[in-house]
Amino acid sequence: MAVQIESSWRIRDIEIPTRIVLAPMAGVSVQAFRRQGRRFGAGLVCSEMVSCAGLSHGNERTLGYLRIGRDERPLAVQIFGAEPGVMAEAARMVEDAGADLVDVNFGCPVRKVTKTGAGATLLEDPDRACRIVEAVAESVDLPVTVKMRRGLADGSRAALEVGPRLVEAGAASLTLHPRSAKQMYTGTADHALTAELVELVDVPVVASGDVVSRERAGEVLQETGAAAVMVGRAAQGNPWAIGEIAGRLDGQPAREEVVAELVLFMRATVDELGEQRATGFLKKFYGWYLGRGRFPKPFKQELVRLEGLADVEERLFAAAPGAGDVLARLEGDLPEEDDVLLDLPISAYGGG
Ligand SMILES: Cc1cc2nc3c(=O)[nH]c(=O)nc-3n(C[C@H](O)[C@H](O)[C@H](O)COP(=O)(O)O)c2cc1C
Repeated sequence: MAVQIESSWRIRDIEIPTRIVLAPMAGVSVQAFRRQGRRFGAGLVCSEMVSCAGLSHGNERTLGYLRIGRDERPLAVQIFGAEPGVMAEAARMVEDAGADLVDVNFGCPVRKVTKTGAGATLLEDPDRACRIVEAVAESVDLPVTVKMRRGLADGSRAALEVGPRLVEAGAASLTLHPRSAKQMYTGTADHALTAELVELVDVPVVASGDVVSRERAGEVLQETGAAAVMVGRAAQGNPWAIGEIAGRLDGQPAREEVVAELVLFMRATVDELGEQRATGFLKKFYGWYLGRGRFPKPFKQELVRLEGLADVEERLFAAAPGAGDVLARLEGDLPEEDDVLLDLPISAYGGG
């Protein structure tokens, strides 16, 4: 029997209300994305990876600094780096900022990250990977979790070798995205490997990769024995996918709902990143929100060409009369913000 998607589970003493985890995605998982994911049924959200290199160098190319809020909880903050001591220091900052979990990135395949010895490279350097997890676990009271790919090369089974050792080193949960770093996002996620990992460790495993629907989520949970599924690309500009997987929603959202969610997202992102950064950052989201047959294609192109976000909002409201009322309702239901700024840079490098 597969687990019920809307049932709670735990990572150590952290209770997570559903089996859906919103994936960390660099350049996507801003606070607005995480809050939205929680509203639609994600039980746990994760920040995109933040660089602990910023601690020692201060020269990281950044998108800004991480902001986290009480209403996002349970919240994991993901850190990446190659030096155990620096990672431990970053983890303490994450704990002080009020996160519930510290997640360590051993999955990022992007060259700028791997060439520093961080991300997926650590799957091939298990001793160092264990030292990092040990140092981080010793430095904080929070549970420490790890997110991995299967390994560097296609067909690699490195995750199965290193996974149990990471648990011994102190990892309280493992997430596996069973593609190789070389594969990036091509091919399919091989969840047979996730099932093998579940057999090998006695901590909850989260299955990441190609979970796009409630049906697929159910299959993955059943076939792997994982405690939860992680949803990434399917949720980009599409919180309704999370609602569908949670069993709360059925069918496509109405146009006014799409526009209301997009405008809410835009406004929250401006608060978070500032207008200038947000303007560029948001462009990719227009296609994600307005695609999937929701609006005609040229409409997205028109929005991308507009100069300012006020013009974008105006065009959106004109295209979906009624969205203003939906937006007012959404804004009225939002909890009071109570944010803490974490002094760790959001890396401009993408990927995981
Ligand atoms: C744009 C993008 C950015 C990502 N950034 C991260 C990241 O910062 N940390 C991480 O662990 N994984 C990252 N990932 C990987 C996702 O968390 C997830 O494991 C992967 O996309 C597979 O899940 P999906 O098929 O549901 O998208 C990223 C993926 C994408 C598409």
